[in-house]
Amino acid sequence: LVKEIYRETEKHSDQMIQISGWIRTLRSSKAFGFIELNDGSFFKNIQVVFEENLDNFKEISKLSISTSIVVEGKLVLTPGTKQPFEIKATKITVEGESSSEYPLQKKRHTLEYLRTIAHLRPRSNTFSAVFRVRSIAAYAIHKFFQEKGFVYTHTPVITGSDCEGAGEMFRITTLDMKNPAVDEEGNVDYSKDFFGKETNLTVSGQLEAEAYALAFRNIYTFGPTFRAENSNTTRHASEFWMIEPEIAFADLNDYMDLAEEMMTYLIDYVMKNAPEEMEFFNKFIDKGLLDRLNNVVNSDFGRISYTEAVEILKNSGKEFDYPVEWGCDLQTEHERYLTDEVYKKPLFVTDYPKDIKSFYMRLNDDNKTVAAADLLVPGVGEIIGGSQREERLDILESRMKEMNLNEEDYWWYLELRKFGGTKHAGYGLGFERAIMYLTGMGNIRDVIPFPRTPKSAEF
Ligand code: 4AD
Ligand code: MG
Repeated sequence: LVKEIYRETEKHSDQMIQISGWIRTLRSSKAFGFIELNDGSFFKNIQVVFEENLDNFKEISKLSISTSIVVEGKLVLTPGTKQPFEIKATKITVEGESSSEYPLQKKRHTLEYLRTIAHLRPRSNTFSAVFRVRSIAAYAIHKFFQEKGFVYTHTPVITGSDCEGAGEMFRITTLDMKNPAVDEEGNVDYSKDFFGKETNLTVSGQLEAEAYALAFRNIYTFGPTFRAENSNTTRHASEFWMIEPEIAFADLNDYMDLAEEMMTYLIDYVMKNAPEEMEFFNKFIDKGLLDRLNNVVNSDFGRISYTEAVEILKNSGKEFDYPVEWGCDLQTEHERYLTDEVYKKPLFVTDYPKDIKSFYMRLNDDNKTVAAADLLVPGVGEIIGGSQREERLDILESRMKEMNLNEEDYWWYLELRKFGGTKHAGYGLGFERAIMYLTGMGNIRDVIPFPRTPKSAEF
C-alpha cells in the first residue's frame, strides 16, 4: 500500500486512509506534531501530522520512538516540500508502547554497534534496505533459473561427505561427548552414533547437485551452507547461503556464460525493483555504486587464465604481503589488485594449478591445471567458484588417491561416472558476497540477518 501511494501519489490525494506502523521519529510543539511512521511494507516512511484537536494529543506527543500505532487520516499533497504528501490524522491509537530505553535513537549508530542488537537492527534505514534487497535478490535468482527451466533441487543439510575435501565441517552427533562410545583403539565409535557413521553439516550441495543434473540436465540449489573455517574476515561467515547451478552436456565456457548472464540479470533486476534502496546505498554507503553496477550490466566480464593473472601481478611492480609465484593460491590482495586496479569490472580467472583446487575439477591436457574458474568482482573479491567436473572415472579416482580421499565415502559419486556420465559443469555463488557487491556493504556480518562467525553466535 505505502509503495503504491509513493508511486502514484496523486491518485490518493484527499483520500481517507488507515495505516499502522512504528514511529521512527516524533517531534511536537504545543499545538501540533509530526510523526515519521514506517509500516514495514516499504523502505520509506510516511509523515503524519497531528494537531491538538485529537483528544489524546498530549499522550501522542510524548510517545517514544518505535511505539506501534494505528493512524486514521486524510492524505494531502504537499508539493514543494521534502515529503510529497502527508497524512492529517483524525485518530491515532496506540498498539504497543516502546520504552525510552529503545536503543535505536535518531542519531547515526555504527554498524558495529548495530550488530550487537541484531534483533532490532532491521528497524534501521540501512538494514531495512539491506534485507529488502536480499529478499528481492533471492527472488531474482529463482526467477532467472526457473524461467530457463532449471529444476530447483533441495540438497541435504546433513551429509556424510566432504564436498570440498578441505575438512572444514561442523560435525553432527548425538553421542554423549563427555562419555562417548569408543572402539578398541579408544577412538570415538561413530557406528554407535545416530546415523551409524560420521556426519556433518554440508559445505556445498555440489556432489548431490551433480547427481540431479545427470537426471534433469539443468538444476540449481539455493540453501544454507556451513564452514568451520577459522577465518575472521569481513567476507567469511560460518553459515552462509549458496546458489549452485549444475549443467549437463556443458563445459567451462558454458558455466562462465551462464554465470555472467545470471549476474547481469541479478544486478539489473535489483536496480529496477529496489530503486529507493539502491539510491540509499549510493548516497550513504558507497558513492558511485550505481554507476559501477550500470557499467557492469552494459559491458562484458573479463576472462583471463591464472597463468596470465600471475604474470600481471608479477609485472605490477606492487609489493604484496604474499609474493606471487605460479602455483600459489591468489590472496585477497591479489584478487583486489586485478579487479579494482587493472580490470575495474568482474573478472573470471580460469585454469588454476590442480594442487590448489578441489578433487572434482576436470584435469586439463597440460596435466598441471584444472578447468576451474573463479569470478572476482571489484570491492569484494571472489564471489563465485566453479569448474567443469572430472567425468573420466579413472582420472577422478587417481586424483582422489593423490589427495588422500577415501573412495568408499564417495562411492555413489563415482558411480555417476559409470552410468551415462557426460561432461558437465557448475558453480557456487556466495549469496552474501553477492549482496555485499550489490549494496556496497563492506562486512558480511551486515548482509545476513543473524550472522554466525568464529566465537560469535549470540542470537
Ligand atoms: O569456492 P567454493 O568453496 O566452491 C564450492 O563450494 C563449489 N562446490 C561450488 C560449486 O562448484 N558448486 O565456494 C563458492 C562460493 C565462494 O566463491 C564464495 O562466494 C562463497 O561460496 N563462500 C563463502 N561465503 C561466505 N562465507 C564463507 N565462509 C564462504 N566460503 C565460500
Ligand atoms: Mg573458492
